[in-house]
Amino acid sequence: MTGPAAPLSLDAIRPHLATRVIGTTLHLHDQVDSTNRVLAALAHEGAPDGTVVVAESQTAGRGRLGRTWVSPRGLNLYVSILLTRALPPETVTWTPMLAAVAVLRAIRALTTLNVRLKWPNDVLAIRNGVGRKLAGILVDAIGTGSGSRRAMVVGIGINVNMPAAAFPEELRATASSLLIETGSSVDRGQLLAALLDELERLYDHACTHGPGDIAAAYQAACDTIGKPVQVELIGSEQIEGTAEVLAPDGALRLRTKNGKVLEIRAGNVVHLR
Ligand code: BTN
Repeated sequence: MTGPAAPLSLDAIRPHLATRVIGTTLHLHDQVDSTNRVLAALAHEGAPDGTVVVAESQTAGRGRLGRTWVSPRGLNLYVSILLTRALPPETVTWTPMLAAVAVLRAIRALTTLNVRLKWPNDVLAIRNGVGRKLAGILVDAIGTGSGSRRAMVVGIGINVNMPAAAFPEELRATASSLLIETGSSVDRGQLLAALLDELERLYDHACTHGPGDIAAAYQAACDTIGKPVQVELIGSEQIEGTAEVLAPDGALRLRTKNGKVLEIRAGNVVHLR
């Protein structure tokens, strides 16, 4: 079986894949607990740079800030990519944004959706002025090396062919899928290949030239800058302000109502309009 409803298979991915390194070693599973966990274990056994783990479903998909990632079988993409090359030190904190830009470009290559980014790395579809989450990214640093010498597992979840009814009730207002937004199914093999191609291009460039291009592409696509936002910091403190600009390391500079400028490095951002 081929086409959007087909199970993922190496035969469905390889013809579309133009990468040199990323996906050369690709493990495809029917079910895992978390592709990030499986890939971290492979990394500890010496898996090479660019190793990819993909699963049809996850029983314990992890999201940012300790959340779970809804991962039903056969509908979406759940993929983790191992990056082991030493990045220029100032590039390391941009890795989640690098992945967000790759997801954005892959979705734009296959659809005409208005796709934008919410800081730090949520991929949104904007419809009638409202952004709904299509994809999320969770980067785990692994190993004991420090800074730019640490390998990274870049985990990406994209809601592809998930109908509204398959989302838990509490996510239906804020999350979406390519199927819901476009009205048609998207070929997951083709989307995965486009994603890995974009990721490799950005990774290769960043390894040699640093984060400049990622920062420029990210800022151009970022829906957060210029908006009034509420940020839930880790530990559940909440602050409100205007998202002004990104700091050189990718942190969000927030101007609070009393004029103070804060740099946010982790937290959940809510756009207030
Ligand atoms: C987020 O909360 O926005 C990040 C979601 C990341 C989900 C992906 S799915 C593939 C990989 N494996 C996981 O357990 N999580 C990431």
